[in-house]
Amino acid sequence: MAKIIDGKAYAEGLRGRMAKTVAGLKSKHGLTPGLAVVLVGEDPASKVYVANKAKQTVEVGMNSWEHKLDAATPEATLLALVEKLNTDPACHGILVQLPLPKHIDSDKVLSAINPDKDVDGFHVVNVGRLSTGQESLVPCTPVGSVMLAKDALGSLAGLEAVVIGRSNIVGKPVAQLLLAENCTVTIAHSKTKDLPAVVRRADLVIAAVGRAEMVKGDWLKPGACVIDVGINRIERDGKGKLVGDCDFASCEKVAGSITPVPGGVGPMTIACLLRNTVRAACAQKGIAIPEL
Ligand code: GUN
Repeated sequence: MAKIIDGKAYAEGLRGRMAKTVAGLKSKHGLTPGLAVVLVGEDPASKVYVANKAKQTVEVGMNSWEHKLDAATPEATLLALVEKLNTDPACHGILVQLPLPKHIDSDKVLSAINPDKDVDGFHVVNVGRLSTGQESLVPCTPVGSVMLAKDALGSLAGLEAVVIGRSNIVGKPVAQLLLAENCTVTIAHSKTKDLPAVVRRADLVIAAVGRAEMVKGDWLKPGACVIDVGINRIERDGKGKLVGDCDFASCEKVAGSITPVPGGVGPMTIACLLRNTVRAACAQKGIAIPEL
């Protein structure tokens, strides 16, 4: 049976280290990293995310600002708020919660964020920096996924990694990070022929397709490490349940290590957002970026 990778415990440890680092930045440099989160509209899942982000930001000793705007807010008003945050010296990180209402052009808003404050790592400048191996702010879920893989496997150098999913938020950036770790990387997607055969080559599987329990145990190379990024809400036995993109029951019998859902990659995302905020604040102040 696979070793279960405890993302909740890893994220708690990371937040603990961060709280110490933040205390040191305050006492040595008079710097309190600050994160502004912008929420437009009333999407219930987004409201929960944003509340959790704010709570954890404050818990590690950082400043947190929440800007809640009405669903009908004009694009120009949102762009004006982003510009104000871009020039606010106390604000080191800006996150505009997605999805945005349909009348707002998300790409335009993300491009308006100062890349040095783009703690989501979604700005094309950060995407370019990541793909060319330059220092950058990297999307949070990919960073958290690779941290867990390294915790389970040690060095990833030379491993065959298969990423399932090609989104800008997870698939593409996680592939870049794995390449930087010297993996041989395949990005599979909905048009991939014989996906089980492709996945069977992998020492490391990163599943980020958004399809409940799609990856089965008999698709895996025995002993593979499985990082399940999916969070899918399904009905089972008349009850609502959260499941990943991997069929946990069959995968845990074949994998060497596997992240559960919930309690795997999920808790890493906010912890890595806080880490990005610390890194952004240090970079903006010319302070060496701490190892976290
Ligand atoms: N909505 C769901 N996840 C995320 C995220 O990581 N960043 C942003 N900005 N919006 C999201």
